[in-house]
Amino acid sequence: MKFNLFEEMRKRVLMQIDTADSVKALHEIRVAVLGKAGELTQSLKSLKDLPESDRPAAGKFINDIRAEIEGAFGQKQAAFDAAELSHRLASEKIDITICKPDRPRGGLHPLNQTRQRIADFFVSMGFTVADSPEIETDYYNFEALNIPSDHPAREMQDTFFITENILLRSQTSSGQIRLMEKIKPPIKMISPGRVYRADDVDATHSPMFHQMEGLVVDKNITMCDLKGILDLFAKQFFGAATKTRFRPSYFPFTEPSVEVDASCYICGGTPKADGCRVCKGGGWIEILGAGIVNRKVLQNCGIDADVYSGFAFGMGLDRITNILHGISDLRVVFENDIRFLKQFR
Ligand code: PHE
Repeated sequence: MKFNLFEEMRKRVLMQIDTADSVKALHEIRVAVLGKAGELTQSLKSLKDLPESDRPAAGKFINDIRAEIEGAFGQKQAAFDAAELSHRLASEKIDITICKPDRPRGGLHPLNQTRQRIADFFVSMGFTVADSPEIETDYYNFEALNIPSDHPAREMQDTFFITENILLRSQTSSGQIRLMEKIKPPIKMISPGRVYRADDVDATHSPMFHQMEGLVVDKNITMCDLKGILDLFAKQFFGAATKTRFRPSYFPFTEPSVEVDASCYICGGTPKADGCRVCKGGGWIEILGAGIVNRKVLQNCGIDADVYSGFAFGMGLDRITNILHGISDLRVVFENDIRFLKQFR
């Protein structure tokens, strides 16, 4: 048989392919046989040395062998691929039915939850949220708010002074001035933040606490607007059945001034015989201070008090959080004991 040589090569290569034990080994065989300098490629080139009459048959023979060998390479490669895939599937298998114990997740601090809920309400009413500094000058915290240095109202807030003129703000009302200096009416803003007063720590006091200030300035703003918005706020925050009560009060920067009470959301104002832990039987809970912006304050900010009027309010976020959750000691809100915080996730 003329083509014995090729036949021998065919058998040998098929055997090599069959016994190749890795993708790398298979690749090496492929290069040695089908590569440019490979055995089979060279055989095809050597056809020209054969007598003319033998060439067609020899050519067909070699091409058939090549097809067969290529098929064998393909099959072997597919076998390697399949083995590799099943190996990966086995080694990367994840049993999604395994139950892991619940991993602890963080949550918003109850004070942040209160702040967000209140902000959500006012933002939905078209208010914007403003920020203002915690370290303030006497002017913004007192003077511009109609509390001159000899004013008795200064005694209401025992202030941390850093220098004679610089202090830790004792109320977020300082933000009213900062905003009115910057922005022309109409103004509708809230401004939450920390405030500081030199109080000793006890169940209802802390030298640092949180307030949310609100300010509306526009033409024709009256007590009706103040009452309408704050009544709606109380209903939204404590429940639709909540009533509000506006008591005359005094703040130097509002005139007239009020303190706003909400009917107790626990007992609805009719406490059981053993009392109510939230309103202590009074039926009302004080939620904020407010009033019509004093003309002097508008004038201090360059706003024409004959054209514009406004209302402002300020509430204690810590106090409202305590009321909402029936927390009787403010200290636990600041201590951040995880057992306490977990209840608010
Ligand atoms: N700043 C006042 C306080 O800290 C609250 C308040 C704000 C009252 C705005 C009226 C208007 O007690």
